[in-house]
Amino acid sequence: MPGIFQFLIVLSRAYEMPSSSLLNSSEVVWHCHQVTPEQREKNLGQKGQVFWFTGLSGAGKSTIANAFEAHLGSLGRATFLLDGDNVRHGLCRGLGMSEEDRRENVRRVGEVARLMADAGLIVICALISPYRADRDRVRQLMSSQRFVEVHVSTPLAVCEQRDPKGLYKKAREGVIKEFTGLDSPYEPPLEAELVVDSSVEPLAEIVRRLSGFVATS
Ligand code: ADX
Repeated sequence: MPGIFQFLIVLSRAYEMPSSSLLNSSEVVWHCHQVTPEQREKNLGQKGQVFWFTGLSGAGKSTIANAFEAHLGSLGRATFLLDGDNVRHGLCRGLGMSEEDRRENVRRVGEVARLMADAGLIVICALISPYRADRDRVRQLMSSQRFVEVHVSTPLAVCEQRDPKGLYKKAREGVIKEFTGLDSPYEPPLEAELVVDSSVEPLAEIVRRLSGFVATS
C-alpha cells in the first residue's frame, strides 16, 4: 500500500511541475516593448501586411508570389516571402501532409508572418493551406487591414496538366497519398479579398491587381 501512495505522490508532482520545454502560455508573462509596431512601420515608411496565397499545388502561387515580391522590391518596399515548399525545409521540417500536420504548418507560418508584419514588412505567404478554418485562424491573429487573402483559383484540371513537379502523376498512380484536390480536400475561401486564376490572367495583370491591396503608409 505505501508503495502505491508513494507512486501517486510522485505522479501528482510530475503533473504539477512545469517542464521547461512544455510551458503553458499562462506560465509565461507577456512583455510590453517600448517600440510599437506603428513605430516600426513609421521607420520603414510602410504598413506591415500579410498577403496569404492559397490554392492547389501547381496553381501558380509561388510564381505569382515571386513576381509580386520582385515588383514590391522595385518600389523599394521591405518584404519577405514565406513559401510552403521552402519553410518545410526548416521552420516546418518534419511535418507531413496529414490534416493535423498541414494545420500545424499553417499555424507556424501564420505566427511568423504576424511577427514579420509587426516588424513592418509586407509578408507574402504561399501555401496550399487547404482548410478554411486554419486560414481564418491566421486572419484572426492580426487586424483586418493587415490580412489579404488571395485565392489562386486555377482549376484542378489545369494544375494537373501543368504538374510541374510530377506529383499529380504520382498521386494518380497511388505513390503519393492524401494529395490535395484528389484524395485530400481543398476548401476554397468564401470571402477572399482577391481571386486570381493564372490560367486565364497574365502574370503582370495579377501583380497589378495585387498592388491595389498594398496599404498606403
Ligand atoms: S499545406 O497543405 O501544408 O499548406 P504546402 O503548401 O506546405 O501544403 O505544400 C508544399 C508542397 O508540397 C506543395 O507545393 C506540393 O507540391 C508538395 N506536396 C507534396 N505532397 C503533397 C500532397 N500530398 N498534397 C499536396 N501537395 C503536396
